[in-house]
Amino acid sequence: MSKILVTGGAGFIGSTLVDQLISEGNEVVVIDNLSSGKKSYLNPKAVFYKVDIRSKKLGKIFKKEKFDFVYHLAAQIDVRVSVADPRLDNDINTLGGLNILENCLEYKVGKIIFASTGGAIYGDAEEIPTTEYAPTYPVSPYGIHKLTFEKYLNYYYQVYGLNYTILRFANVYGPRQFKGGEAGVVAIFVDNAVKGLESKQFGDGKQTRDFVCVSDVAEALSLARKIDCRGEINIGLGKEISLLDIREQIEAALGEKIKIKEEPAKAGEQRRSCLSRQRAKDVLNWEPKVELAEGIKKTITWAKENKEK
Ligand SMILES: NC(=O)c1ccc[n+]([C@@H]2O[C@H](COP(=O)([O-])OP(=O)(O)OC[C@H]3O[C@@H](n4cnc5c(N)ncnc54)[C@H](O)[C@@H]3O)[C@@H](O)[C@H]2O)c1
Repeated sequence: MSKILVTGGAGFIGSTLVDQLISEGNEVVVIDNLSSGKKSYLNPKAVFYKVDIRSKKLGKIFKKEKFDFVYHLAAQIDVRVSVADPRLDNDINTLGGLNILENCLEYKVGKIIFASTGGAIYGDAEEIPTTEYAPTYPVSPYGIHKLTFEKYLNYYYQVYGLNYTILRFANVYGPRQFKGGEAGVVAIFVDNAVKGLESKQFGDGKQTRDFVCVSDVAEALSLARKIDCRGEINIGLGKEISLLDIREQIEAALGEKIKIKEEPAKAGEQRRSCLSRQRAKDVLNWEPKVELAEGIKKTITWAKENKEK
């Protein structure tokens, strides 16, 4: 049993991870400012601090709780917000992250695991599926600051010996997803569909992404604290899925057509994204268990049950 901090533990991925860690018998503490997370997602067995990751109060929490591991998931996750206000994104995602790192060092945390992004860090990669060795050319402040924090993790390891692993997620989907977030297309389409509302599709729908179910992501995160391997690991299905495929899968699961309004493509939108999962298999012994069709069914069931919430 370990004492584990999950920042962003009231959010979509964070709360799923907290459930997983608690089911494994760990003691879990959550730090979250509830800007997009929900108290109702919090596992009742977790100790909760409603605090911003940029706060000076963090030191007291680290001193009191004495964490073996820290999962850093709290973030400003909206790419469009980062474009509109790069300083805000930097403040939360870089400087907030540094506040976590400084406390990890001061209070001798054994390892930090960071939720980074494969979708926003590589840019329009030539290599598909994209490996961790591909050059990184993020095209948003969000991607830039995720990459910046990755570099800080490596720096803290090289200079101070703080152990870390970085997971670069593909587009994560599943129950509890915040609909305003990064690439939440499954959440948005499903939520609108179960409410009988229209969704917007930008461009021809042939743009591709790699989708991975949140339960598989939580498992990858859990495994990551047990390995002695630094650096970056992609977490995705390794399959290119188009927006049209997503529409089709949702329609197949619902047994009816969904309402879509086609709008012009967004300027600068990435055309293709798909992550190689070879390294995850080699170093993390991780393979996804949930195929897209099954994951979409689970998401629809959850959305129906939580329609008015
Ligand atoms: N969802 C995806 O497809 C995806 C893909 C790649 C990476 N990620 C990363 O995974 C992590 C979790 O994302 P998610 O999809 O669960 O989003 P989410 O918005 O549901 O979770 C983020 C959580 O962080 C909290 N938070 C935000 N700013 C904070 C602050 N300043 N102080 C304290 N708490 C704060 C929010 O309240 C929320 O609970 C993020 O770091 C995100 O960048 C997500």
